[in-house]
Amino acid sequence: AMALACRPKLLIADEPTTALDVTIQAQILELIRELQAEDGMSVLFITHDLGVVAEIADRVVVMCRGALIETAETARIFDAPQQPYTRALLAAVPRLGAMRSIDRPTPFDAIDPESGAATPAAPLAGPPDHAAAPALEIRGLTTRYLTGGGLFARRRPAVHAVENVSFTVAPGETLALVGESGCGKSTIGRTIMGLTRPHAGEVLVDGRPLDGLARRDAVRRVQMVFQDPFSSLNPRHSVGTAIAAPLEINGIARGAAARARVAELLALVGLDPQMAGRRPQEFSGGQRQRLCIARALALEPSVLIADEAVSALDVSIKAQVVNLMLELQARLGLAYLFISHDMGVVERVAHRVAVMYLGEIVEIGPRAAVLYDPRHAYTRRLLDAVPVADPAARFRRRDIAPAEIASPLRPAGWEPPLRRYDEVAPGHFVMA
Ligand SMILES: Nc1ncnc2c1ncn2[C@@H]1O[C@H](COP(=O)(O)OP(=O)(O)OP(=O)(O)O)[C@@H](O)[C@H]1O
Ligand SMILES: [Mg+2]
Repeated sequence: AMALACRPKLLIADEPTTALDVTIQAQILELIRELQAEDGMSVLFITHDLGVVAEIADRVVVMCRGALIETAETARIFDAPQQPYTRALLAAVPRLGAMRSIDRPTPFDAIDPESGAATPAAPLAGPPDHAAAPALEIRGLTTRYLTGGGLFARRRPAVHAVENVSFTVAPGETLALVGESGCGKSTIGRTIMGLTRPHAGEVLVDGRPLDGLARRDAVRRVQMVFQDPFSSLNPRHSVGTAIAAPLEINGIARGAAARARVAELLALVGLDPQMAGRRPQEFSGGQRQRLCIARALALEPSVLIADEAVSALDVSIKAQVVNLMLELQARLGLAYLFISHDMGVVERVAHRVAVMYLGEIVEIGPRAAVLYDPRHAYTRRLLDAVPVADPAARFRRRDIAPAEIASPLRPAGWEPPLRRYDEVAPGHFVMA
């Protein structure tokens, strides 16, 4: 509304939907298209999401290292890209549905920054070990936030951010957690990490509860990587100091031993161990995310929670970081709780997918079952909103809910309904 107040002839939209989940993104794109049709304004739409490009653009300009390397009508760019860099960009796009015939995660093709050519990553180790005890288990987790009310208000309404959620993640397994903005994904991550206190329920890591006496021990076994690698590292400390901090705080290593472990961790995430003395601001976004992963791995966790860990990265860097995560998983047997609104990435990394709506899981099951045979109406709506990198699909009809997002804010004393789940196929559960 602010940008349109003066009825501009040109609207410059710089990654306007990057931080949004797919349903909200679809609504914003629809809105821009409508306004454009009404007023005939021009739009310069800057994005790294080729699905969004296919949806909204008439013409595309591809830039690489400061130079304009290719420009054409949208359909031509997708059908007949002329430059190797453009071809590599298109090859790296995670397309939902592209992996229908593959029953376990495969790495993305990464783009070689020098030649612009796509280099497929190495194949990965076998499937997760479901026979082993779960690395992460949550039982009936419920987290509510009390709101407003002040000192004298006895009965305050509460945000039911997470309501009676249960699931397990096996060693070496990735469970993706998806759902629209505000549905409670980050709250689950924060509650597992002990950053938010649950109202009810239990968290077990390697079979041990995350409270009571075992807490200090168990808490090291689960680590988190966040969306914004820029604010997760202190600019005043060298990256070596940042990565060594968990080792020193927990009395695991100091001095020369800590330095040796830092060098090992940097090498593990594909960075030069010589870089330990540098400050975070000397690193790119992708490198910083590698640093955050190195720091998270310092205590040899069995579970890594990645909360939109690759969402802020462009397609090719995203592919590299995702590949790194997949390699580390295969090598170290890590269990991932992978929170993301990028369904293309989810399709690439997840063994199983859990779909959340207003604090509850509405559907959970093997990746192929949930993504290609969704049973809950909400899952269908979410998948329907995913942009496809195909200009021909641009005007397909969709069911985009026009209204605001429903709210998990409930009056005081509200009792959540008792839920039942039907097992529609082996391991595929849908809220009745
Ligand atoms: N500290 C807080 N106090 C009150 N309400 C909160 C607090 N943190 C989160 N909420 C609310 O809890 C709900 C769940 O928030 P959460 O951040 O877990 O969602 P999310 O699924 O991670 O969303 P996004 O995709 O936007 O990251 C939202 O309604 C949010 O407004
Ligand atoms: Mg979140």
